[in-house]
Amino acid sequence: MKKLVVFTGAGISAESGIKTFRDSNGLWEEYDVSEVATPEAWDKNPAFVNTFYNLRRKQVLEAKPNAAHLALVELEKHFKVQIITQNIDDLHERAGSKKVLHLHGEIIKSRSTSNPFLTYEIKGWELKLGEKCELGSILRPHIVWFGEAVPNMELACHLIKEAEILIVVGSSLSVYPAAGLVYHATDNCKKYLVDPSAELKVSDLENLKIYKEKAGTGVKKVIREILKNSTGLQ
Ligand code: APR
Repeated sequence: MKKLVVFTGAGISAESGIKTFRDSNGLWEEYDVSEVATPEAWDKNPAFVNTFYNLRRKQVLEAKPNAAHLALVELEKHFKVQIITQNIDDLHERAGSKKVLHLHGEIIKSRSTSNPFLTYEIKGWELKLGEKCELGSILRPHIVWFGEAVPNMELACHLIKEAEILIVVGSSLSVYPAAGLVYHATDNCKKYLVDPSAELKVSDLENLKIYKEKAGTGVKKVIREILKNSTGLQ
């Protein structure tokens, strides 16, 4: 089976009602990133940061996977599919995608402040500030904040290098190192980009077809195109 990688950003969850970051009325218009999404913010005011993520977690739990998430699951019948997402929601998993690699963390999990490899499922929407890990350290949201290392980058690079097909959905491709991933795909890799503002994106990528539309419709069109072009779909 051919290896197919899907790289997703906040845009794929927009039609599930979850705000993106940099569109008009985006999350970073409402909140100052430096006050809610940096280690310094957590050190300065953990209650404010924790509440920010509790409110977003509540929204995520109320949201449902949309047509784009569900269409990507269908691809698993024909390809070895790997999702690599910048998103912290669990909509890919709830849609049924089997292989999801999160680059920026997972909002449904907490993490020990003394050992980042110690993570825990959060029951419900609220992480209570002061809850402790098994080592006795305070728990924090399991999110990669600005200025922190992106631990899954090396694996993500390896996966994209191996991809024969790459679909990029709903990312402004503006936050590195994640945004640089698309350039690790080989020139032979057939690439598709689905985004209503796609013209602002990576026009210098080889072997790229752009679908300047929302994920809900665009992903289905890409999948039809891929299945039409693929011979030997065993
Ligand atoms: N369908 C597809 N794409 C969409 C849709 C939609 N319905 N709505 C918006 N988009 C596109 C926008 O055109 C934009 O290109 O989704 C992209 C959203 O960009 P951002 O808000 O910057 O989100 P993202 O690229 O995921 O941000 C990257 O920045 O703040 C950090 O950690 C955060 O993971 C996030 C990272």
